[in-house]
Amino acid sequence: MHVLVFATNNPHKAREIEQILGPNFQVKTLKDIGCLEDIEETEPTLEGNALLKARYVKEKYGYDCFSEDTGLEVAALGGEPGVHTARYAGPGRDADDNIHLLLKNLESESDRSARFRTIIALISDRQETLLEGICEGSIATEKHGTGGFGYDPVFIPSGYDATFAELGEDVKNTISHRARATAKLLETIRNTAF
Ligand code: IMP
Repeated sequence: MHVLVFATNNPHKAREIEQILGPNFQVKTLKDIGCLEDIEETEPTLEGNALLKARYVKEKYGYDCFSEDTGLEVAALGGEPGVHTARYAGPGRDADDNIHLLLKNLESESDRSARFRTIIALISDRQETLLEGICEGSIATEKHGTGGFGYDPVFIPSGYDATFAELGEDVKNTISHRARATAKLLETIRNTAF
């Protein structure tokens, strides 16, 4: 059993990655290693924020680890919310508020194409590696489904007629941005003395 530290406090993400990695891996979160402070994402890119979190854990706690940052990039909005995806509707707002603002900003747009982009930063054996996973799709005109989290009720992956929230975790974990980046992570750690 390999133990990996995942620099996140988001239990949804930790569960998704643990499921994708399979039974040979146990994923520990920040809480599990006693890191209770909030690591502020202050960089202007997904890559920068992913590295910032992984470096923080390595420097302060000594663990080899990985972290990830995900953004929703909407073509008609020039790639926004992108790095601002988590706090799109402002600080202290929740996923519903973010979705509400996104649908409002797309009201008059005919091009609803969008993609989720995940960057995973891995620090292992003092080496830093960046891995990318992309899931192309479009934004629905209203919310559908109850599964998943975040923007899942309005994201329709390409090739499907339903949102991530309707498709359920088995389908999502096969085709998602995080699944694709995690597949690369798995490949990399198989080839590394983690
Ligand atoms: P962060 O990577 O934790 O900064 O998350 C960025 C934002 O993207 C948050 O608002 C999440 O809810 C959202 N997000 C990240 N991954 C997903 C996903 O798989 N589905 C829907 N929303 C997501």
